[in-house]
Amino acid sequence: MNLENLLNRLTLEEKIGMIHGCGIFETAGVPRLGIPPLKFSDGPMGVRNEFMQDRWVPIGKNDSITYLPSGGALAAAWSPELAYRQGQVLGAEARGRGKDVILGPGINIKRSPLCGRNFEYMSEDPHLIAQIVAPLIRGIQESDVAACVKHFAVNNQETKRMDIDVEIDEAAMREIYLPGFEAAVKEGVHTVMCAYNKVRGHYAGHSAELLDKILRDEWGFEGAVVSDWGAIHDTAEAAKVGMDIEMSYTPDFDDYYFAKPLLKAVRDGSVSESDIDKKVLNVLRLMQKLNMLGGERKRGCYNIPQHRAVAYDVAAESVILLKNEEKLLPLKPEKLKNLLIIGDNATRYHAEIGGSAELKVLYEIHPLLGISGRLGGNCEVTYTRGYAAETYELFDCNTHEISPEINNVKIHPPKPDEDLRREAVRLAAEYENVIFTGGLNHLQDRECFDREDMTLPYRQDDLIEELLAVNPNMIIIMHAGSPVDMSRWASKAKAIVWSYYAGCEGGHALADVLLGNVNPSGHLPETFAVKLNDYSSHSIGEFPGGEDGKVRYSEGNKVGYRHFDTANTEPLFPFGHGLSYTQFALSELSVNGAEIECAVENIGAIPGKAVVQLYAENGLYAFKKIPLNAGEKKQVQFTFEMPEKQKFRIGFSSRDIRLTGEIK
Ligand code: BGC
Repeated sequence: MNLENLLNRLTLEEKIGMIHGCGIFETAGVPRLGIPPLKFSDGPMGVRNEFMQDRWVPIGKNDSITYLPSGGALAAAWSPELAYRQGQVLGAEARGRGKDVILGPGINIKRSPLCGRNFEYMSEDPHLIAQIVAPLIRGIQESDVAACVKHFAVNNQETKRMDIDVEIDEAAMREIYLPGFEAAVKEGVHTVMCAYNKVRGHYAGHSAELLDKILRDEWGFEGAVVSDWGAIHDTAEAAKVGMDIEMSYTPDFDDYYFAKPLLKAVRDGSVSESDIDKKVLNVLRLMQKLNMLGGERKRGCYNIPQHRAVAYDVAAESVILLKNEEKLLPLKPEKLKNLLIIGDNATRYHAEIGGSAELKVLYEIHPLLGISGRLGGNCEVTYTRGYAAETYELFDCNTHEISPEINNVKIHPPKPDEDLRREAVRLAAEYENVIFTGGLNHLQDRECFDREDMTLPYRQDDLIEELLAVNPNMIIIMHAGSPVDMSRWASKAKAIVWSYYAGCEGGHALADVLLGNVNPSGHLPETFAVKLNDYSSHSIGEFPGGEDGKVRYSEGNKVGYRHFDTANTEPLFPFGHGLSYTQFALSELSVNGAEIECAVENIGAIPGKAVVQLYAENGLYAFKKIPLNAGEKKQVQFTFEMPEKQKFRIGFSSRDIRLTGEIK
């Protein structure tokens, strides 16, 4: 179809209808010309439930979807192949639910551990993000659905997110904050969501530098830019740059900047119609790519067993074994007669809150169910909560003032829990096998909120210390979307396992790792520090910014391990770290021009997956996840794309370097 012709047949009013929300998750179509509305849905971990057209009131029936592992979990698997499979599921489910654009993946850099949305994001490292985001998008878009990579750009905190002004130098922006987005564009992502915040004095959604110069001129983006919900603040400013579709969260659709005010601006000449035409053409092109303007369009499907199997596979490779002294793990199911499980996260469901990433799910296997279900009738599993956390109720947002804040959760504070604590300690002393499952939940890891510090909530530190004192073999499982302070007990604990929010099959995956059915192969996509001030944004006092509404990224490119390495700060667990139940060795390094080759060998007794990481002078340059049987050895090749003289290191984490060399 000739899109220019189609464009020429549209009235100005029709064009304007196509570039702003006429519902909280859709634009207007033009039925007389066969142009359908564009339908959006959150979010990164699955398709969000159905809302009324003009209200945040869930109305969906039969719309429970597959709950996929979070961005953090996906990145922890260090597997582009799994990212692709997860993308296929997300795309098929979005299409299955009749959506055109799925509002994810979220790929902002984890600049501070306190950012409430870190759980949706992937990593502190641009290379890891780029390697995961590209196949994820490829998978999503196979179903005639657009991925929407967000939030462009430098949206790294929730505090004052609607207008915080980020001061950042060009080099840091290019090196750290943009490569993930560039990889998404190079992969052919159909839509990009602008961020709420300002970048160097301009709202991201009004920024000619971001939306015209970088996104379109430099990277050749041909899709459509969507505003974050309520990120536009001025009609002419946004109309004149490459911002295509204005979306927001209030029902006054005709008053959106790209609605009546834009019509008026075109009529009075302050915005030219050719600017509108560019936007409409971008929308039409997007629709054509999605086969929305005729042609055979993919159907999609949701909540099918095959999708749950992918959720399981990703979850299983996302679990990170942080510490395992005396080979406490895996547990030996044949020898386990009884097992004590302590902690609120053993039975907490995570999917349904957290902000726009919330989901209505058919089921979520929590750790207690996962472990009990796998252990079967020969082992008696006892559960005690150990500490009290908040409980909550969900209600329709619409009964309250509408805002971009998350206001559909009524929270009940934790009840006094001294009895729970005493009971847990008493039982832990009696049981030989004890598992503690704590960490954070989506009352801390959530949109519109940043934590105040890294301390574990609900006085978990006190409890963990008391429990370890009576049972030094207790296995500790931390669930969270961001690092927590483990410094009080990490050296005393013998076994620590980390799980990001891992989707509907998370409990099964975790159980399989604990019981040795799965050999863990997750690796940290971010640095776990001893204390908050070890992170560069905090050591310079630039999180979450000053009273003047600015946050200065004066740490430059020294984000995450780049900072720990230059400052010589010992992390608690370094970027890239993750243990296995087997051991791997690296050897036989050879360098031939830009080609690097080495051998990786499984020197243990069981099969496992090694993550071989190549670091160049600027940080992670390449990695490969390699399955190896016991005793098996494989060759691994890496190629430097732009060979220039530099030193490199190869290892199993940023601090576990086994081989070093130089490209001449
Ligand atoms: C969030 C976006 C989300 C949008 C729509 C915004 O508040 O920042 O990530 O996609 O709402 O729910």
